[in-house]
Amino acid sequence: MKDAIPQPQRRKPALPATVAWIPDGDGSPLPGVLRILDQTRLPARVTHLDLVAPADTHAAIRRLAVRGAPAIGCAAALGLAAACQHANATTADFLCEVRKTADFLATSRPTAVNLFWALERCVSAVRQATETSVAGLKRALLDEALAILEEDGRLCQAIGQHGLELFGGRHGAGVLTHCNAGALATGGRGTALAPVYAAQEAGLEPRVFADETRPLLQGARLTAWELQHAGVNLTLICDNMAAQVMREGRVDLVIVGADRIAANGDAANKIGTYGVAILARHHQIPFYVAAPYSTIDATLAGGDAIPIEQRNPDEITAGFGRRTAPRGCPAYNPAFDVTPHELIAGIVTERGILRPPFDAAIAALPQSPGR
Ligand code: MRU
Repeated sequence: MKDAIPQPQRRKPALPATVAWIPDGDGSPLPGVLRILDQTRLPARVTHLDLVAPADTHAAIRRLAVRGAPAIGCAAALGLAAACQHANATTADFLCEVRKTADFLATSRPTAVNLFWALERCVSAVRQATETSVAGLKRALLDEALAILEEDGRLCQAIGQHGLELFGGRHGAGVLTHCNAGALATGGRGTALAPVYAAQEAGLEPRVFADETRPLLQGARLTAWELQHAGVNLTLICDNMAAQVMREGRVDLVIVGADRIAANGDAANKIGTYGVAILARHHQIPFYVAAPYSTIDATLAGGDAIPIEQRNPDEITAGFGRRTAPRGCPAYNPAFDVTPHELIAGIVTERGILRPPFDAAIAALPQSPGR
């Protein structure tokens, strides 16, 4: 085992919730607002945004104030409930309003399937509600959104418990992760980081290498921030250092999250993940994906069909307001890439670890609500 990289002793108070529903007043859940931790301000500032209007929720998802596949789903569901709570409509008009608002929110980002999954689950809950007054439908919509958020917390916990197996009881294992798939990306303790937290609680003291994650630095701004809060041994590296860190023998396993997993196990995640998977294969380091079942899109046969979000090239040439390339310099900015299933050793879900062949393992999973 390599020498540990020296760590400052730091443990801070519990993290604020990434996504929450805040009732306005008298103890009943409606009316209320969707409250999100504004991740564009981290790590410098801990501030929240209270959202009601669909355009505001859409913009918050689009500009990554709330991000990470499960958190996007939770925020969209609660955003739908927030947007529709003030509708002054007949039952039939209310159903149209819910459909229209869900369709609008679904255009905020294209890759994370949890967004569409959560919205469709909410629309179905309203359609199937037994209480058909408009007030009853508003409540059914909110209840479903809250159930998605609450469930996500439990799923993360279960992913953590299953993922603990990856450590095989090893103390001080080196874990490399890319982007942020922790508490800030979910309604719970994360997907890729959940096994890390479980290992920490089990006294295994994992050592995490967090890729910085160009261009928007989710690894540096978010993963480093939340792991530091949790007192986890953490070392931040630039993306282009992963090969060297692996070669030095510091990495025992890689765990990343996913935004969408196709029926054959191909997994879309933050741009750069595919490169990490290739490096891991070269160094014979197991590469794991951790994601809830809702991230699997079994309607897509393979990863080539996963839509890849293209973002503004300014994020590369003038990120965070500082120009780092000449004005007018062309840049290409796909936000995600697809790791082929051949490079994945296992997919850690709330139902256990799926192993290759993934097409058979995924086909054998029972369907979940909203699909
Ligand atoms: O663009 P982002 O920050 O939303 O990308 C997030 C990721 O790629 C995460 O790894 C993925 O959504 C899994 S989050 C549990």
